[in-house]
Amino acid sequence: MSTKGTPAQADEFWLFGYGSLIWKPPPHFDRRIPGWVTGYVRRFWQVRASQDHRGTPSAPGRVVTLITRSFWSQLTDHHDSAPSRVWGVAYRIALDKVAEVKEYLDIREINGYTIHYTPFHAAAGVDPSLLPQHGPFKTLVYIGTPDNDQFVGPQDPQQLAEHIYRSTGPSGPNRDYLWGLEQALNELSPESGDEHVTDLSDRLRAIAAREEKDGRDRSVSPELVMQREQQHHQQHHEFTRVCSIDEQEETERTS
Ligand code: BEZ
Repeated sequence: MSTKGTPAQADEFWLFGYGSLIWKPPPHFDRRIPGWVTGYVRRFWQVRASQDHRGTPSAPGRVVTLITRSFWSQLTDHHDSAPSRVWGVAYRIALDKVAEVKEYLDIREINGYTIHYTPFHAAAGVDPSLLPQHGPFKTLVYIGTPDNDQFVGPQDPQQLAEHIYRSTGPSGPNRDYLWGLEQALNELSPESGDEHVTDLSDRLRAIAAREEKDGRDRSVSPELVMQREQQHHQQHHEFTRVCSIDEQEETERTS
């Protein structure tokens, strides 16, 4: 049924993005609606090995996929809780551009992902006249299911963070994808944070800080270390001399 003069849902095509699509929209969209889907858990469990993406074949990065909540609940995951709502955005694509957009996504994203459909709930406060119908509506979503070759499954979060930190590819460092996702999620709604993403992002920041410190320490040459030690020794010597002069004067004054 159509509302407020908008075409019925059958006449519209909506795509749900829960990964890089949130901050890198597809072409030919005319509406971008924040909101959520249920029944899934978002995890960095998909290898991004292709040359045209983040990570090279020798250091393939990791990107997100959705795992059905029922399957995920049977697994042992170090991140053992997950929000009941997977936040993202729905894009409305012009009907005459759907084939082109799917082709674009095949090139950009699809490497082990398959097409699924899921009901999408617009965030509270979205103008209903922008939506195809009252209540949740159908969206197409790309999911890397556990049976695809690029699916990794549960991983130790620290090892995963180290892996993401070190992976890079023609599209840029894998860490930018993770931090980009964290930021994009934070911008959607006060409720749209995802602990899995935030925890990995925090771990990456800790790794970056550690590497920066190590780099600073390593960048100090032995000559500079010796020079600094000499300066320190000299200052210490000056200090002791001044102290002893003070003490001497003090002793002279009191004697
Ligand atoms: C996304 O939502 O960004 C996305 C995830 C997997 C494949 C295509 C798009």
